[in-house]
Amino acid sequence: MALEDASHKIIADLLESRTGQTLTESRRWRISTALSGLFREFGIENVDQLACMLERPGEHRLATRVVEALLNNETYFFRDHNYFSTLANTVLPELAKRRADSRKISIWSAGCSTGQEVLSLAMTFCEQPGRWADWKIEILGTDVSSKAIEQARTGTFSQFEIQRGISVAQMLNFFSETPKGWKVADKVLGMTRFEQRNILDYPPAPGRFDLVLCRNCLLYFDPETRRNAFERLATGIAADGFLMLGAGETVVGQTDRFEPAPFGSAMYVPKAAIRSGSVLGDTLPRAATA
Ligand SMILES: C[S@@+](CC[C@H](N)C(=O)[O-])C[C@H]1O[C@@H](n2cnc3c(N)ncnc32)[C@H](O)[C@@H]1O
Repeated sequence: MALEDASHKIIADLLESRTGQTLTESRRWRISTALSGLFREFGIENVDQLACMLERPGEHRLATRVVEALLNNETYFFRDHNYFSTLANTVLPELAKRRADSRKISIWSAGCSTGQEVLSLAMTFCEQPGRWADWKIEILGTDVSSKAIEQARTGTFSQFEIQRGISVAQMLNFFSETPKGWKVADKVLGMTRFEQRNILDYPPAPGRFDLVLCRNCLLYFDPETRRNAFERLATGIAADGFLMLGAGETVVGQTDRFEPAPFGSAMYVPKAAIRSGSVLGDTLPRAATA
């Protein structure tokens, strides 16, 4: 194996051991591009030098920075707009019926990046004030990247970031300009909580969440790691809860813990619930679009 290939492998193995994300050989070209800022900051000349530094004991901080730089944090507000319509018009009304007694809904966004997905959900509730007035809504966002979670907690975004997915009305209603950027309103941020967690470590309490979003996070897990991640998601979802994946992702052929829900192409339900007949009531309206 050429020296550069061996160095790429050391870096890819580090990423995989910390996050489960695989960098197959055909995607290793990303390494130098993604790490160029770090190379400049640490005065590192190439991947071989970096790999040597990573092999030294005590390089924990550098290793963390490398992993964070290699993670793909791409996200934006109301990503896949149709899916948010399905949530607002189909899934949340159904959960409102099912939780009419407790008037409490708990949501987990696993792999939430810098928070846009979580805040889009919170804004969805705020846009229906009559329906949710006396409800307790909690939305937890988790991500393996501490840098992403740090930004999410601030609720502050650049002009470019809020232009991606936020309408003018939403900008006026939910954001104010500050010297550090556009800050989301306290009533929106106050519905959310962000924690740095690896989806592969985090064992949620059984049935803790009514709705789980895990979008564009499992794509680069190998099949066994993905199955493990689905196990954790399945543990965390209530028997009559819902799972939402990203566009182009599916549970089919990946896990036997979930089945496609009969509406919206990104929605899934726990399989045991289907067997018991407790989830897919005839009352559930079908979404017009996926
Ligand atoms: C492409 S972003 C998607 C963000 C958002 N869910 C969306 O769809 O817009 C994927 C996120 O998953 C996170 N991630 C990757 N591996 C993870 C793991 N093992 N545990 C938790 N988060 C992880 C990354 O840090 C990144 O922020």
